[in-house]
Amino acid sequence: MIGLFDHLAVPLLRMLDPETAHALALNALKIAPLRRAATDDEKLGVRAFGLTFPNPVGLAAGFDKNAEVADALFGLGFGFVEVGGVTPLPQPGNPRPRLFRLDADGAVINRLGLNSDGVEAVAARLSARASSAGIVGINIGANKDTVDRAADYVRCIEALAPHVAFLTVNVSSPNTPGLRNLQQAAALDELLARVIDARERTAVGRARKPLLLKIAPDLTLADLDDVVGVARRHGIDGMIVGNTTVGRNNLREAEKAKEQGGLSGRPLFALSTRILAETFVRAEGAFPLIGVGGVDSGAAAFAKIKAGASLVQLYTGLIFRGVSLVAAIKKDLLDFMRIGRLDTLADAVGRDAAAVTAEPWPV
Ligand SMILES: Cc1cc2nc3c(=O)[nH]c(=O)nc-3n(C[C@H](O)[C@H](O)[C@H](O)COP(=O)(O)O)c2cc1C
Repeated sequence: MIGLFDHLAVPLLRMLDPETAHALALNALKIAPLRRAATDDEKLGVRAFGLTFPNPVGLAAGFDKNAEVADALFGLGFGFVEVGGVTPLPQPGNPRPRLFRLDADGAVINRLGLNSDGVEAVAARLSARASSAGIVGINIGANKDTVDRAADYVRCIEALAPHVAFLTVNVSSPNTPGLRNLQQAAALDELLARVIDARERTAVGRARKPLLLKIAPDLTLADLDDVVGVARRHGIDGMIVGNTTVGRNNLREAEKAKEQGGLSGRPLFALSTRILAETFVRAEGAFPLIGVGGVDSGAAAFAKIKAGASLVQLYTGLIFRGVSLVAAIKKDLLDFMRIGRLDTLADAVGRDAAAVTAEPWPV
């Protein structure tokens, strides 16, 4: 059924302007009868950040920015769903057009600029589904015109922590001017102190929610040394590696490649996997990683795991491969496990990290 849907919907949606196609896909998920995904093979289960994931394939932030369709997304087979990014106050984001599909590259450029319904609307939707099954995390950011950015993250945590399974501090969106500066050591040190304090305060009488840091794939290795060092000192629970890139290497669609914004999809795979492996060797097991960027097949997902990811996420792959991609990846992962005689995916995590970091830098 899902395969048939893809057969019809993927070519149709690709004829439309990308933002219209996205709105249509969201609406289809809103009105579709809720499906329960088939139970996953136990071998796909992953334990990370104190949570038990039924499978390692998650939906990356940016698809369901306002927490409108989380339950429907579990019906597609995702092991977890990250909603958001959300900002404290509602904001419209950048003017359109701001989303571009590079068909020949299997890529997208977006400069949405954290368009958000704001924390109150998102908290209301999440609390309405609070008893539903499925691991839902929230991706949080800062308003464009804010003065004290760290205060915005604190505000989001205060409002949203009670309603989610994990919190992602997004300091890596390239479309909010200055946001990525929060990855610099001193700024990150202050930010993590304040968000962890907020997380502890919201946990009184309740479970502490895992706090993850999402970084850019464009960090230099010297920056990455600092980021991982600060993250380890603060005892964060995990990192997501990573966001979209401002790089434009090896693109066929030369005209669209000139659009400003963050690039995602297949051309991001090599760089994001390299930064993932570099993060893994620096983290030395202090916390698990989620690998994101260009996952569009089971082989790509398994490569992320071997480079150091305990879990993977994807977004752009869905646009090009359709929703049957999730089931295809899970099936392929089980095949890879059988061929490699692995009892758990954890046995493969980071197995190739050292080898990946020894390769020539991806261009
Ligand atoms: C349209 C769009 C919107 C996104 N919005 C967010 C966001 O709000 N917060 C965030 O951390 N990442 C956001 N991302 C980045 C994705 O979560 C992901 O890190 C990136 O796209 C790489 O994965 P992919 O190649 O599978 O798409 C967005 C990506 C796209 C394409």
